[in-house]
Amino acid sequence: MNKPSLGFSFSSFSLFLLSLFSLTSSVYSQSSPDAAAMQALKTSIGNPPNLGWTDPNPCKWEHVACSDNRVTKIQIGSQSLKGTLPPDLRNLTSLTVLEVMKNELSGPIPSLAGLSSLQEVLFNDNNFTYFPPDFFSGLTSLQTISLDYNSFEVWEIPVSLTNATTLQKFSANGANVTGTIPGFLGGDVFPGLKSLNLAMNNLHGQLPESFAGSAIETLWLNGQNSDTKLNGSVSLLQNMTSLTQVWLHMNQFTGPLPDLSGLTGLKDFSLRDNQLTGIVPSSLVNLPGLSTVNLTNNLLQGPTPKFDTSKIRVDMRTGSNSFCLDDPGFPCASQVNILLSIAESVGYPVVFAQSWKGNNPCDASQIWKGISCDSGGSITVVNFQNLGLTGTISSNFSQLTSLRHLLLSGNSLTGTIPTELTTLSKLEKLDVSNNHIFGKVPKFRQNVIVNIHGNPDIGKDNSSFTPGTPPGGSSGTPGTHSGETSSSGSGSKNTGKIVGSVIGAVCGAFIVGLGVCLYTRKRKRSSRVQSPNTVVIHPQNAGDGNGVKITVTNSSVNGGGSDSHSLTSSGPSDIHVVEAGNMVISIQVLRNCTYHLAVTGRVTTKVDVFSFGVILMELISGRKALDETQPEDSVHLVTWFRRMHINKDTFRKAIDQTIELGEETLASVSTVAELAGHCCAREPYQRPDMGHVVNVISSLAELWKPAEPDSDDIYGIDLDMTLPQALKKWQAYEGSGNMDDSSSSFLASADNTQTSIPTRPSGFAESFTSADGR
Ligand SMILES: *[C@@H]1O[C@H](CO)[C@@H](O)[C@H](O)[C@H]1NC(C)=O
Ligand SMILES: *[C@@H]1O[C@H](CO)[C@@H](O)[C@H](O)[C@H]1NC(C)=O
Ligand SMILES: *[C@@H]1O[C@H](CO)[C@@H](O)[C@H](O)[C@H]1NC(C)=O
Ligand SMILES: *[C@@H]1O[C@H](CO)[C@@H](O)[C@H](O)[C@H]1NC(C)=O
Ligand SMILES: *[C@@H]1O[C@H](CO)[C@@H](O)[C@H](O)[C@H]1NC(C)=O
Ligand SMILES: *[C@@H]1O[C@H](CO)[C@@H](O)[C@H](O)[C@H]1NC(C)=O
Ligand SMILES: *[C@@H]1O[C@H](CO)[C@@H](O)[C@H](O)[C@H]1NC(C)=O
Ligand SMILES: *[C@@H]1O[C@H](CO)[C@@H](O)[C@H](O)[C@H]1NC(C)=O
Ligand SMILES: *[C@@H]1O[C@H](CO)[C@@H](O)[C@H](O)[C@H]1NC(C)=O
Repeated sequence: MNKPSLGFSFSSFSLFLLSLFSLTSSVYSQSSPDAAAMQALKTSIGNPPNLGWTDPNPCKWEHVACSDNRVTKIQIGSQSLKGTLPPDLRNLTSLTVLEVMKNELSGPIPSLAGLSSLQEVLFNDNNFTYFPPDFFSGLTSLQTISLDYNSFEVWEIPVSLTNATTLQKFSANGANVTGTIPGFLGGDVFPGLKSLNLAMNNLHGQLPESFAGSAIETLWLNGQNSDTKLNGSVSLLQNMTSLTQVWLHMNQFTGPLPDLSGLTGLKDFSLRDNQLTGIVPSSLVNLPGLSTVNLTNNLLQGPTPKFDTSKIRVDMRTGSNSFCLDDPGFPCASQVNILLSIAESVGYPVVFAQSWKGNNPCDASQIWKGISCDSGGSITVVNFQNLGLTGTISSNFSQLTSLRHLLLSGNSLTGTIPTELTTLSKLEKLDVSNNHIFGKVPKFRQNVIVNIHGNPDIGKDNSSFTPGTPPGGSSGTPGTHSGETSSSGSGSKNTGKIVGSVIGAVCGAFIVGLGVCLYTRKRKRSSRVQSPNTVVIHPQNAGDGNGVKITVTNSSVNGGGSDSHSLTSSGPSDIHVVEAGNMVISIQVLRNCTYHLAVTGRVTTKVDVFSFGVILMELISGRKALDETQPEDSVHLVTWFRRMHINKDTFRKAIDQTIELGEETLASVSTVAELAGHCCAREPYQRPDMGHVVNVISSLAELWKPAEPDSDDIYGIDLDMTLPQALKKWQAYEGSGNMDDSSSSFLASADNTQTSIPTRPSGFAESFTSADGR
């Protein structure tokens, strides 16, 4: 009974042994397909005995995990390993985790391109020297990579990283990363990226725009070592609403902190050691979860923010910012608040934040950049000329009620001139020249000098512009070396119309006070004339609303404003004007023009002659000296004019269409054009003397009498008078003996113009003879 059962037992036992043996031998003989690569790794890191990597099958090794006989994890961090990593790691195609951090491994990091299962790689805290640009190619499962603190040669974040679309944490602090932060780090490429750590590298440039839409929670970009560090604005933090930890300290970020009320999870906010300006937003102070805030060593302005120090660790050393007062929570003085709102409209520039310290803009011991005050402590001059400002003109300038001079020229300001400025009852001078201001110019009191020259779109309807995008041309700086004297600006088209006649205007300037205006247009427009250095164009409010008033007043009255702390100038209130037809020319100016030019010794420089030639060209053509709307070869008036003047047909085209060209007119215009050409000769020695110019032009004045003699001949100057006669008469009117000996000698010589014409310079055309001169 038992035997058969025993026989059965025996046979099944031997079968068991047999199968056991075959199983075991198959394990030994098959080993793992990854054995060779793992042996290469073991050799490469110097067969370290402490790892216990002795078994032929790497799947039996400590710190190594396998699945289906394939190596999936290698975790050999903090093992005091030396040596290098072999390129054969790339053969471990099932690898998901590679941890070699905190050793002394050196040499290049091998490319792991194509390891599509790899999820986590920790190379940090070693002595690796090279990071391959194709490292990330095909790493489509990568979630975490840490490269911090190695001895890399300088490298940039490679484009191959875009393959790693599942990335959650990218960490390369202290890893010698250079270049800019690639925009793709913030884009849709990495929807899961939560942690971006790039502190202590050599990055430069700005935060990429794409960050605004990112879900990044931990952002470490602090302590860049490049020359410029990271810079620009931090305004897009406002849109990074997932942020919990922001370390941007020790960079060169500028501009104000944005509204942070959307960052409800924010805990750590470290922006110390930057150049941040502006007022600390209450949204930061009020964030419920905030635990650390570091703002020391910036240029923050306004009141010192009052954080709840029982909950928040605050690093904001007293005196290390530009707060108006040291006591947290105390408001600034009202003049300070006004100036800060003005600074806000130009993005809180560093230049103001560095110098606007304390709570009193008129404190003599701390001069505020661009601000001058009277002895009563009221701001009288704001001089922000040529500070590279961008942004708009704040309507809050109107709250500086003692303001006399508002000088904003030579910046990149856009927007319109705020209507509120017209309420400034003490305002004498508003200079917004050479900016990108557009729109209608509001109506100022009569005696306010408004300089809007060099704003290509001023006067135009602003509806087609959006604030913040400067419309039209580029920089407002005048181009030719005569640029500052010739300035019909954007109104040049109209200039032609107003003046009505080139000759009229030119003669008007030279025949004292005559303001000879020919081809008088019935449009009610007028011009006031300042110095030859400043031509100011006002849109005319009355009438067709389309006109422009040219003001050419004597700018020396104001001297262009200054940074000084006291103001003594009396303003231009004493400008006398002669109205003749549609021109108004200040007597003082004509006096200055004439004797300064002639003695429209003192003006010997040929540059002035050149400038005058440019003005003549502007009057003839109705174009401005520098017109960036024209094709490239016609931008500069002088070059273009020279070309057009070569033959009759092109010259006719160059003449302002609003000039009614009769036979006689054309002849005179041609004469003036020729004169202009000579004045603008390339070589200074070829340019005529002003005396000669006077003679040529005064000869035309005889021809060009006004169509309708002006009844308002308040200065008693008869159009039939000769130039010297007119000068004498006008001098008598002025009475005050403002003219010195040199002017008398000018008159004396002017009496003898027929014989005292200065010698023609070499190269000056034969066409202007002394006979022409009278
Ligand atoms: C890794 O794979 C490459 C080819 O893909 C091969 O040449 C190399 O020998 C492999 N390394 C090892 C250690 O098997
Ligand atoms: C690795 O780098 C550290 C510091 O960077 C250095 O102290 C150490 O000597 C280096 N080790 C090797 C083996 O190069
Ligand atoms: C960064 O890279 C440059 C050039 O490769 C090297 O000279 C420099 O020593 C590296 N800096 C660090 C901190 O490793
Ligand atoms: C990986 O990135 C490279 C650019 O470095 C690109 O050419 C390649 O198409 C990408 N591969 C995949 C699978 O996305
Ligand atoms: C930022 O730095 C770059 C050089 O990296 C420089 O060209 C740029 O002008 C700087 N921008 C600002 C706003 O300072
Ligand atoms: C940032 O957020 C503001 C409102 O908080 C929004 O108006 C603006 O369009 C956003 N900018 C970007 C680039 O997403
Ligand atoms: C921020 O300031 C706090 C308080 O002084 C300090 O403990 C912390 O280390 C600082 N954090 C950074 C990132 O500098
Ligand atoms: C003007 O200043 C006041 C505070 O003085 C401020 O509330 C207002 O927003 C400012 N307006 C502009 C346009 O800056
Ligand atoms: C145009 O100017 C008017 C007033 O001058 C202003 O109310 C309006 O907002 C401006 N529009 C734009 C687009 O700037």
